[in-house]
Amino acid sequence: MPSDNESLTRIETQARSELDAVADAESLERWRVACLGRRGRLTLVLRGLADLPVEERKRVGTQANRLKRELETALQEKKARLAQSATEALIVERIDVTLPGPPLPRGRLHPTTQTLRDVLDCFVSMGFQVVEGPEIEWDHYNFEALRIPKDHPARDMWDTLWIDYEKDGERPMLLRTHTSPMQVRVMEQTEPPIRVVVPGKCYRYEATDPTHEWMLTQVEGLAVDEGMSLGDLKGTLADFAHRIFGPDRKVAFRCDYFPFVEPGMELRIDCFLCGGQGCRTCSRSGWIEILGAGMVHPEILDAVGYDSERYTGFAFGLGIERIAMLRQGIEDIRLFYANDLRFLRQF
Ligand code: DAH
Repeated sequence: MPSDNESLTRIETQARSELDAVADAESLERWRVACLGRRGRLTLVLRGLADLPVEERKRVGTQANRLKRELETALQEKKARLAQSATEALIVERIDVTLPGPPLPRGRLHPTTQTLRDVLDCFVSMGFQVVEGPEIEWDHYNFEALRIPKDHPARDMWDTLWIDYEKDGERPMLLRTHTSPMQVRVMEQTEPPIRVVVPGKCYRYEATDPTHEWMLTQVEGLAVDEGMSLGDLKGTLADFAHRIFGPDRKVAFRCDYFPFVEPGMELRIDCFLCGGQGCRTCSRSGWIEILGAGMVHPEILDAVGYDSERYTGFAFGLGIERIAMLRQGIEDIRLFYANDLRFLRQF
């Protein structure tokens, strides 16, 4: 039973250092019970006073009561400090729900997609249907069925990326070089009347430069019906040119050769930059070539089982990047797929 100054001093030192270490309400309560509770260390001293001689009882009693008051005060102070730091922690952790959220980057359509949609919209409004075909194509559809036989010089018009697959010593598959193979696929699967446009990626074994890329987007067009004439072709494509490049453009058709059409031609518009005077964009000719077109070759109609005496058709093919370059004043086709946001964000 501690009953003198020395043990009161020991109780005080221990109680104070334990109180210093207290960091939360729970351990504070444990401390209170251990020191000041009914069976606490100081309480036991006070209870034991009765057994002491009178003189000592007075002296120890006074000091023990003083210590009790001091420890109770320290307890209250510690309680207040703990409460305050709990509030402070809440303030630091507080989330301000009124703050604006982090900005979401806003995407946009690729310039090729924008032009592609404009072009498709134009033909869809004229009654054409949009269909798509495979990017990996058979030699048969990409060339043979379009009257471009092996070893024919016309194959030089398309530098081809072949698929590494051999059959009977030949490589019959390739990355399509144009969307024209879909002419044959559509005709094989449907009967006239036909009005389709075919958007899609095409691939070429190309040394790239400002006007050549190894991948490009084309739109093929095909219309087959009874009595379809060159006048239908010209009217349709002139309308297209005016809608995409403006109603003031002059339109001209000029002979060109494509193995799958007869006659074949190219569509040109007068240069909107120099007004026909001649500049860099139009190679000083005053005219800009927009697309290739022609009347579907009767041999192709016959080959898909149509009666070429009854049905005629026209076809056309255009490059979307080229149209976008002309419309937006883009000088290098390689910019489209370089993934440079400084370029893409301009459109
Ligand atoms: N397929 C041709 C090319 O890639 C473009 C073309 C020309 C398509 C004339 C046609 C056409 O349908 O009639 O160069």
